[in-house]
This record gives sequence, C-alpha cells and structure tokens, in this order.
Amino acid sequence: MLRRLHPQQPDSFAFTPANLAWAEKQIAKYPEGRQASAVIPLLWRAQEQEGWVTKPAIETVAKMLDMAPIRVFEVASFYFMFQLQPVGSLAHVQVCGTTSCMICGAEDLIAVCKEKIAPKAHQLSDDGRFSWEEVECLGACANAPMAQIGKDYYEDLTAEKFGALLDALARGEVPAPGPQNGRFASEPLGGATTLKEFTGEAANASVALAAHWGDTVKRITGDEQPVDAAAQPLSGARPAALDAPRGGAADDLTRIKGIGPKLAEMLHGMGYYHFDQIAAWTGAEIAWVDDNLEGFKGRVTRDNWVEQARSLVEQGSGA
Ligand code: FES
Repeated sequence: MLRRLHPQQPDSFAFTPANLAWAEKQIAKYPEGRQASAVIPLLWRAQEQEGWVTKPAIETVAKMLDMAPIRVFEVASFYFMFQLQPVGSLAHVQVCGTTSCMICGAEDLIAVCKEKIAPKAHQLSDDGRFSWEEVECLGACANAPMAQIGKDYYEDLTAEKFGALLDALARGEVPAPGPQNGRFASEPLGGATTLKEFTGEAANASVALAAHWGDTVKRITGDEQPVDAAAQPLSGARPAALDAPRGGAADDLTRIKGIGPKLAEMLHGMGYYHFDQIAAWTGAEIAWVDDNLEGFKGRVTRDNWVEQARSLVEQGSGA
C-alpha cells in the first residue's frame, strides 16, 4: 500500500505540556548522540494525542530529535501502526481480518463498518466521528472475531453486537470491552474446565481495569494517572481492609506459597491479615493488590494466592 502524507494537513502541532514532559523523559533515556532512538515513542505519543501523525507532528519530532524530517517520515510511513490520514474524532475501529477472525465472521464485521462508518477503510464517517480499517492478527484469536476500538479489545463479536457497540459509542457511551458473548475470558465456549474460581467474577482483570479507567476512546494528554504508580493506586478496586487482625491474631499468611515474611508484613501494613480476606478478592481487587505490592508486583496472580487462600479457608484454617 502506498503510504504518503495526507493532502490536508493542520498548520501546526504541539505536544501538550504533560506529553512534552513525557517525551523529554523518553529522549533522556538514550545516550548523547542517540536521541533518534526515541523516534517511535514520540511519534506514537503524537498519534495518541491527535489520533493520527500529521506533517507538523513529524517536523516537530524531527526537531526534538535533531533528525532530518524525511528520516522521521520514513519511520512513520514504514509502520502501518501510524495513521497518516485523519481518523474519526471519536474512534478509529480496527477489525482483525486474519485467519481465526476471518473464519469466525470478520467479513460480517467489515460489512458493518462499511454500512455504519464509511464504504472504504480510512475514510471518515459523514459526521467525522468514526473511521475504520482492517488489521492483521491482534493476538486475541481465541476470542475471534474481534476489533480494537481505541485502547481496548472487543471480542467474540457478531455483526449485530458489533453494530450495537458502534451505536452505543456514537451515543457517547463506552461499552465494556472484552468478550461480548458472556465468556469470562478465553475459556471454552461450553464453560471453564480450569481456573473455575475466577469465572464467577463480573469481569476478568483486563476488562475490570478498562472499566475502572473508562478511557477506551479518550485521546492521551499526558495527565492520565499512571497505572503502575503506587502513589496513585486504583482506589476503586482496593479490597476492604482491616485496621487490625480480628481477635488480635493474624493468620499465618506465609502458609500461602509465595508469601514470605516480608510480603506478609507488607500485607499486614495494607490491612490484610486473614485467609478469608484474600479468598474473597475479585478480579479487579487482585489487579489492585498486584499493582501495589512494591517490589513484588504481580505475585497474587503468579502464585494464585486467592485459590490457595480459599482452600485454606475450606480446610478450616485461619481465624
Ligand atoms: S486472527 Fe484475529 S486476533 Fe488473531
């Protein structure tokens, strides 16, 4: 496909102050004389801010990195992930058309795009709010067919459900991402055969996090809360905590494989003393704890604390 600059370009481009600060941090990661290594992150942030990569954005990035603009354009035109034409002001829809999705109905989804958005890929809808394209495999093949809209994946789609999603977005809603057929994640259609304890949750951890942020189609200004900043925890999903152990005696949390004395102390500091507290964590709460275990991030999921805590509770262990 021929990729060139769009004939209509804005007059100027400027990073928002927060995005500029972020870009300067990226540049500082590279040794003197190697600033050009930051070209992809900077172009990507320009696209996240504006929706597409404009000529003024290319020139701005070139100036920041002391590169010839043509060198930056070569990068932007080589990678298909960079949009070189305006995209919908509300959402750019990327429908996967690769094998699994194609077999499972991607062509029906593309027909919906043609009908509801525009007859051709990369064309704006009449109101300028939507655009679409077909993309290669997005790695969610077990939930085919699927589409990425903004930052999130919508999976297990049918033409009807996809059409309804686009209508909801047009009304200003942000439908919950993830599987749209009632599946929790990518378990068999007939129901989970393993990890069954998680499928009772309202949503898997990715969906819970996306719902928590609610910014699926929001452009990035740089003022967003970083997901991994302990100073800015995901307060909405913090599990209920205790001020002190019940009856003055905490359970021996080190009986959960993967929790040593240091982690047990950290959990006590967060208000978690008992197996039944851990056993009750939901997907969103697991994500919160995983994200806030400074130096041990991701251990709740990695060592499956919740399942271990549940079996300890079932065995009658704990206070
Ligand atoms: S084939 Fe569509 S996500 Fe992989």
